[in-house]
Amino acid sequence: MGKCLAGLEELFRRLEEGLTQRAVIRIVLGKYRGSDPEIQKILIRPVIIRGQECLSFVYRYSTRDVTRNFTVPEGIVEIRSLLGGEFKSAHLFSTTETVQAEITRKGTCRVSVSKATTETTSDSAHDHAKERLIDPERPFLAELGITRGNDQVLPSMSRKWKQINVFISLFQGALLASRIDRAKPVSVVDFGSGKGYLTFAVYDYLTTTLGCEARVTGVERRDDLVEFCRGVARKLRMTGMAFDSGDVTDYKSGPLQIMIALHACDTATDLALAMGIRGGAEIMLCAPCCHKEIRPQMVSPAVLKPVLQSGIHLGQEAEMVTDTLRALWLEASGYEAQVFEFISLEHTSKNKMILAVKRAHPVDPAPILKKIQALKAFYGITTHTLEKLLSS
Ligand SMILES: C[S@@+](CC[C@H](N)C(=O)[O-])C[C@H]1O[C@@H](n2cnc3c(N)ncnc32)[C@H](O)[C@@H]1O
Repeated sequence: MGKCLAGLEELFRRLEEGLTQRAVIRIVLGKYRGSDPEIQKILIRPVIIRGQECLSFVYRYSTRDVTRNFTVPEGIVEIRSLLGGEFKSAHLFSTTETVQAEITRKGTCRVSVSKATTETTSDSAHDHAKERLIDPERPFLAELGITRGNDQVLPSMSRKWKQINVFISLFQGALLASRIDRAKPVSVVDFGSGKGYLTFAVYDYLTTTLGCEARVTGVERRDDLVEFCRGVARKLRMTGMAFDSGDVTDYKSGPLQIMIALHACDTATDLALAMGIRGGAEIMLCAPCCHKEIRPQMVSPAVLKPVLQSGIHLGQEAEMVTDTLRALWLEASGYEAQVFEFISLEHTSKNKMILAVKRAHPVDPAPILKKIQALKAFYGITTHTLEKLLSS
C-alpha cells in the first residue's frame, strides 16, 4: 500500500506542479473496474471559467458525455477519490512530459515518466499550435471523416487536423483575451462553413473544453453540405448548432459576437467582414482565399513593372494589397487587425489569417482612410467590395 501511495503521490506532485506552470494539457483516467457498464473513461482539462482556473471533467459513457467543472483544489480531490476507487490508470499529458500511473490488482502503483510526445510538445513550424486543443477522440471528428476507430487521424486528413488545431489555438487566444463574457452564451457565425470542420471544432471547444453555453451557426450555399452538417449536429445532440443554407450575400445577420470565415471564396470574405463590422463582432478570424477582385484592376506602377510583369508576382502582390486593404478597413472601423501566417505552406497554400479584435477605444479613422486612398491610387484600384459594403 505504501508503494502505491508513493506512486500516486509522485503523480499528484507532477500534476500540481504542471497546473501551477500552466503546462497541463489533459489527464485521462481509465481502466474502470466498477459496476457501471456504460462508463469508459474520464477526460480532464484545465479551463478558465469566469476568470477562475478550473478543471473540467468529461465523463465519457458509451453513448454520451457528461461534463462537470470543479475548482482546481476540488478537482484534485475528485481525481484522488476516483483513482483510490474504481479507476485504475491515469495518464497526465503536459507540454513537457507524459506521466502514466497504473494501479495493479495487488494494489501497487507503477509510475512511469517520459518526455512529451509530438502530440503535446511545441511544433517548430507553428508557435500557435503548442498543443492539441481538440481531443482526437471527440465524436464529431469521426463523423466528419477526420478520425477512424476511436482516435486515429486518417493520413489523408492530417493537414485538416493540423489546421483545425492551429485555428482553435488562435481562437482560444483571441477569446480568452477578449471582453466576451463566457458566463453567458457565446455566439459564433461561420461564413462559408463547408463541411463544418471548424464550425464543429469551435462548438466542441466552447462547450466541452471551456464548459460554456454556445450558439454556433454555419452559413453555407451548398445545400448538400448544410444537410450533412445538420445531420451530424442532430446525431451528436449538439443543440446549440445551426446551419443556414444560402449565400453570404443574402444573409441577414443581426448583432454578432464572433465571426469566422475560413477560405470563404474571393469577395465572400469581404461580405463576411462587413457583416462582422456591422454586427459589432468582438472578434473576427478570416483566412481569405481566391483573391480575384483586385488583380485585374491593378495597374503596375512604373518602378514595379519588372516585378509585376510575371503572373505569379502580380497574383501575390494582388493578394497582399487585397488583404492590406481589408486590414486597413478593419482598423478604420475600430478594430486592431493583424495579418499573419495561419499555417505554413508545407500544409496548405491557403495560409494567411486576418485576426481582428474590437478596440475598447477606437482610433481616429481619418489617417487610416488616407492610407487606403493612397494605396488604391498607387495601384489604380477602383472597386473594392469591402469598401463598397461599408460605404452603403
Ligand atoms: C474552401 S471551403 C472552406 C470551408 C470551411 N470554412 C473550412 O475551412 O473547412 C469554402 C466554402 O465556402 C462556401 N462559400 C463560398 N462562397 C460563399 C458564399 N458567397 N456564400 C455561402 N457560402 C460560400 C463554399 O461553398 C465552400 O463550401
